[in-house]
Amino acid sequence: MTKLSVRHLLGIKNLTENDIHTILDTASQFKDVINRPIKKVPSLRDITIANVFFENSTRTRLSFELAEKRLSADVVNFSASGSSVKKGETLLDTVNNILAMKVDMIVMRHSSPGAPHYLSGKIPANVVNAGDGTHEHPTQALLDAFSMREKLGDLAGKKIAIIGDILHSRVALSNIFCLQKLGAEVMVCGPTTLIPKYLPEIGVRVSHQVKEALEWCDVANVLRIQLERQQIKYFPSLREYSLYFGITKAMLDNLNREIVLMHPGPINRGVELSSDAADSSHSIILNQVENGVAVRMAVLYLLAQQ
Ligand code: CP
Repeated sequence: MTKLSVRHLLGIKNLTENDIHTILDTASQFKDVINRPIKKVPSLRDITIANVFFENSTRTRLSFELAEKRLSADVVNFSASGSSVKKGETLLDTVNNILAMKVDMIVMRHSSPGAPHYLSGKIPANVVNAGDGTHEHPTQALLDAFSMREKLGDLAGKKIAIIGDILHSRVALSNIFCLQKLGAEVMVCGPTTLIPKYLPEIGVRVSHQVKEALEWCDVANVLRIQLERQQIKYFPSLREYSLYFGITKAMLDNLNREIVLMHPGPINRGVELSSDAADSSHSIILNQVENGVAVRMAVLYLLAQQ
């Protein structure tokens, strides 16, 4: 069996192209499993996993929990609200207390960039980054790549536009690393204030015209405006953002060719996407969610072999 080059999944930046292919190929096998009448395999029967979430989540948290249960792991869930973190306990003390209960793997979402990297240097368990602030969201990028590959085949040479709030998005950075390692061309599109200045230096195209981005790409991966991470005003109003950068079904239909529409969720309907675009035949948004379980099964299974 092919092994990963890493013991923790901290980000896509640390993975090799071979690691990514191994995860995606393993996920294909797990996708077959979860579409059978009996959706469970005994692969992680002796493993206990803690999902430690210091930030809100719907998709990632449920998807990891289902992936763990489909692999027959024992699962415990922790959320910061209602925990002793509110009484001043540190991140390391909290996690060491969870590990004292004989937990083997930590899946963690945290608002501070680098929190899972810090933890991985301090504890014996495998650490999976389920999103660290504005930094990386590796399993989202892997499930996005899996979903694109399912739709378009080999991603080498394919053109992917990431449209929206790039500056505050961990999904954008992980997608850029992942797609470039797989040989795809990447463009980002959004207001000047929401695009980091260094991106052209790492080979990413930049556009400030959504029409230009849509005409260029095979896949439009649309991101929401992360108002919760914005301390200042980056654009005048959501109404104006929607007017200049919002995507409608008519814009996609008018291209008169196939274009794949993606969004990691949660969607702000009527801001970055109109409802008719989000629910159109161009959209594979719910396929992404389905694929997330298979991809997370693959990540957990492969890390458990390390
Ligand atoms: N895509 C994503 O990370 O969604 P959640 O914040 O709901 O987990």
